[in-house]
Amino acid sequence: MTQILTACQAHTAATLLRSGALVAFPTETVYGLGADATSSNAVARIFEAKGRPSFNPLIVHVPDLEAAEKIAVFDDTARQLARAFWPGPMSLVLPLRADAQISDLVSAGLETIAIRIPAHKLAQEILQAAGKPIAAPSANPSGRISPTTAAHVLEGLSGRVDAVIDGGACAVGLESTIFATQPLTLLRAGGVPVEALVELGLIAASRDEDAKLSAPGQMTSHYAPNALMRLNVENVHENEVLLGFGMVDADVNLSTQGCLREAATRLFTDMRSIDRLARGGKSIAVSPIPMEGLGLAINDRLSRAAAPKDS
Ligand code: TXA
Ligand code: MG
Repeated sequence: MTQILTACQAHTAATLLRSGALVAFPTETVYGLGADATSSNAVARIFEAKGRPSFNPLIVHVPDLEAAEKIAVFDDTARQLARAFWPGPMSLVLPLRADAQISDLVSAGLETIAIRIPAHKLAQEILQAAGKPIAAPSANPSGRISPTTAAHVLEGLSGRVDAVIDGGACAVGLESTIFATQPLTLLRAGGVPVEALVELGLIAASRDEDAKLSAPGQMTSHYAPNALMRLNVENVHENEVLLGFGMVDADVNLSTQGCLREAATRLFTDMRSIDRLARGGKSIAVSPIPMEGLGLAINDRLSRAAAPKDS
């Protein structure tokens, strides 16, 4: 049985987490599936619930920089990024401290650790009350669409997690941007647009093959809907339903105004809706989406969703 908690029950969620339970909670990006990062038993249950390949490492969530510095070694670039984007939709992959007391399962045996300070009020309350680092991947079965509401979490994981705390819909709607430093590398496009680095005077490396390899979670097929998906479509075929962007006649529209922020917020919910409309043998066509700002992360998620599932 999965217990449903209200936004007033952050302390109950924290107590459950401290006792080794699995609790899904909202962040500003997507819902995370949390467990005590210092307990291998608790963390193992995350992999079990998600059906996730265990070589795929998890992000550790903490409430503040003091807690983060107990787990990872920060260089100047990491500090600069932390100051600019934390709390917020960014994760950093940094060297793991020898005395961090994080379960090996979290880092999947790597010498680095992904760490994030979320800004979401409820996530902050839970992390502060838990007083322990919380490992949390997105709260969806491995390879499926990430959840941006408590209902999405229940759709995929009901009965497989101890509790879900309902904090409404996620404001950003896309996972965090992941950077590694030494050298500064973009591992995953996400809620912090890469252009923001240019303003900081940090030059971002592009998503080269090395970067992809060092984020093992970046498998080609991910976020997969059931129906086939075709991207950058100007002319919709007869057997297709259209996930639109901008002023097009679409079955579901990410943003009739052509607003990338709105499209990011709606992406995962709209992917679920269009997948339902495609049931019974139709395919999904998707309008072109500009490759700028959050458009990078949106196109990244869409191209993974469209990738052949056996790759
Ligand atoms: O917004 C988010 O980041 C959400 C919320 C819940 O915080 N979390 C999330 O976690 O998206 P997950 O597990 O679905 O994605 C984590 C990504 C994976 O692609 C994983 O391979 C990568 O982070 N990652 C984790 N640790 C890493 C490490 N040490 N080195 C390289 N990549 C790492
Ligand atoms: Mg995920």
